[in-house]
Amino acid sequence: MDLQPKTALTVLGLETSCDETAAAVVRLGTDGRASVKSSIVASQIAEHAPFGGVVPEIAARAHVELIDAVTRQALDAAGVSLSELDGVAATAGPGLVGGVMVGLSAGKAIALARGLPLVAVNHLEGHAVSARLDQAIDYPFLLLLVSGGHCQLLEVAGVGRCRRLGSTIDDAAGEAFDKIAKTLGLPYPGGPALEKLAEGGDPARYSLPRALLGREGCDFSFSGLKTAAARLAETVADPGQRRDLAAAVQAAIARQLTERSTRAMAAYAERHAGEALRFVVAGGVAANRSVRAALEAAAQAHGFSFNAPALAYCTDNAAMIALAGAERLALGLTDGLDAVARPRWPLDEAAALADPTHLPGRKGAKA
Ligand code: KG4
Ligand code: ZN
Repeated sequence: MDLQPKTALTVLGLETSCDETAAAVVRLGTDGRASVKSSIVASQIAEHAPFGGVVPEIAARAHVELIDAVTRQALDAAGVSLSELDGVAATAGPGLVGGVMVGLSAGKAIALARGLPLVAVNHLEGHAVSARLDQAIDYPFLLLLVSGGHCQLLEVAGVGRCRRLGSTIDDAAGEAFDKIAKTLGLPYPGGPALEKLAEGGDPARYSLPRALLGREGCDFSFSGLKTAAARLAETVADPGQRRDLAAAVQAAIARQLTERSTRAMAAYAERHAGEALRFVVAGGVAANRSVRAALEAAAQAHGFSFNAPALAYCTDNAAMIALAGAERLALGLTDGLDAVARPRWPLDEAAALADPTHLPGRKGAKA
């Protein structure tokens, strides 16, 4: 399927599901390609850092304080007035519900005041389309979605058309990065800090468990790695050891992501014989250079093209929400002003209901 709206659509996107207050303007052309007119992200990292993680009440209050100014900034930077918009898209979940409500209510208010259609976007669908913001990637593709709250392999045929091939049975990959980084005494958010510490380290110095290696299916598990790394972190003292342990953790996470993705590639290739095979990685962990490199090599080895969003579109942003909204709008998939904020919202609801043992990763902040 590819998506070509009859007329170009300009959509305002709002994202407030965790600790970034973000607004963006994206235009979806009649050729089905996106152009980002503006993307403003106000990070609350400084406010949450003293607590070592996201504090929901602080996040919700900060979103209330920032959302108007960030929205105005996004419109100004795009040079677009409210009357030039074709729709408003806001994250409606999954996430911290107090924060989600702020962006969704702001989106509803603009939609109501300007008579615009509203699209209530699943944050995960935003990540799923994020590589299409700056690259020409047609549907369908195989997606590895790796963020702070989610770790899933999905077949993506378009907005509203995702099929889950596998997901984590305990922690998400970003959550593993964050928790292990914390045991190493690194500041929040741990993923980027751990990547920095790992630079030049020897990943072979410490051996870590290889969960699910060789096991059937495309599921993930990071809890054993987390426990083993936490134990080792108590024993390391000098900077060289810390660096090598960080490198070993990063390599272990990259290895598992790659091994499970390779299995999904085999299953996907069977279902899509004779078609173009595309592999996309998205979400905050896709910003990690080691992870990207390992996945790219695996994709190439298995006959898949490889795409990852620009770094700014890996972590949370509103451009991806605007694009998911525009693609939905092009298909006539809009929502009423009674759309609700949802703390939990699986992308493939049928798969989630059929197999409820697969937790969506972190409960709370990034869920
Ligand atoms: O997509 P995202 O911004 O928020 C969620 O929707 O979860 O992902 C945030 C996650 C955090 O766990 C963060 O530590 C991780 O992505 N992350 C990284 C890197 N940059 C962000 N993990 C490893 N290496 C990085 N460079
Ligand atoms: Zn996210």
